[in-house]
Amino acid sequence: MSFEYTPPQDSVRWRQYAGRDVIPLTVADMDFPAPPAVVEALAGRIASGLFGYGEPWPSLLETIIDHCAREYGWLIEADWIVWLPGLVPGLHAACCAVGREGDGVFTATPVYPPFLSAPLKARRRLLTLPLVRSEAGWGWDFAAADAIMRSARLFLLCHPHNPVGRAWRTDELWQLAALVDKHDLVVCSDEIHCDLTLTGRHTPFATLAPEIAARTITLMAPSKTFNLAGLGCAWAIIPDAALRRAFEGAARGIVPQPNLLGLIACEAALREGGAWRAQLLDTLRSHAARVEQVVNALPGLSMERVEASFLAWLDCRELGVARPATFFAQAGVGVSDGAAFGPGEAYAQYVRLNFATTRTLLDLALERIRKACTG
Ligand SMILES: Cc1ncc(COP(=O)(O)O)c(C=O)c1O
Repeated sequence: MSFEYTPPQDSVRWRQYAGRDVIPLTVADMDFPAPPAVVEALAGRIASGLFGYGEPWPSLLETIIDHCAREYGWLIEADWIVWLPGLVPGLHAACCAVGREGDGVFTATPVYPPFLSAPLKARRRLLTLPLVRSEAGWGWDFAAADAIMRSARLFLLCHPHNPVGRAWRTDELWQLAALVDKHDLVVCSDEIHCDLTLTGRHTPFATLAPEIAARTITLMAPSKTFNLAGLGCAWAIIPDAALRRAFEGAARGIVPQPNLLGLIACEAALREGGAWRAQLLDTLRSHAARVEQVVNALPGLSMERVEASFLAWLDCRELGVARPATFFAQAGVGVSDGAAFGPGEAYAQYVRLNFATTRTLLDLALERIRKACTG
């Protein structure tokens, strides 16, 4: 997948460094147009001129149910689906729905920043645990998780994990599930990147066992996979009726319905986007390998293999610069500042790099990084 690319004038990522010679590899969307089937479906609807209030229709629900069965072997029921305009509102609704003011919400860092802000907005106590980096890559300190979960009511799980790029293995998920069960937690599992798993098949946390499903809110969307983030369409899958009612109650009146065009795009993407997605995954695998090869050959930089999505988490602690994100921007590459992904300045010596751009731009960005690091 490589084509010339002209960013739209509204792109948040491309506006960030407008007027400067900085390649923006920040915000998690892609420089790839959505699948032709999506564009066609949207064009058809737009031609109708009808944009009144809409709600999900039977074939759309069937599409989600079929997708879960085909991709993850997960048999869900239509009633379990709660539609959302995005995953972030889902994280907030989960924090409001579970427990009460002052209760603990547990998550592992570094992590996508709303995992850190949503609990606080809901007046919960944020309990964070650093993931550990070892020879085997990024992973969990399960003993430390056990100790912290004791004080929590809710666990915000990022699976696959943004930004460290791990697609958690089933044995890791089982260890987390045992702790969740032991401490009687509700889990909100953000699985937005699950259809971009580069290394195998995704296992939703809720599929481990019916008892686990009963305490889990799973958040999903077509937005990362098919580059539809601007269309506002996502959903939660909540098998337990009481938990679902609490979640819906927390969202009501605050969280709007998904965008009608997002729903139309979602059905087309999941039904007809398979070949496009396969090609995308090949491109992302190749880009991930290239980033890893360049980064791990440079003095002062290192990273672990990306198992899912299009984000690389670069350890710049040995680089010897005050603020790596600023250093790379000055060298002509915009990356996300790691500080936003954890408490205080814990990750200020890391950056996140989005490699879902054209190969030409990616190679240029990597060359700029190489030059900056080798002086
Ligand atoms: C883990 C994770 N959750 C949620 C989101 C954003 O979700 P939404 O745009 O649907 O609110 C992102 C975007 O990068 C993400 O990485």
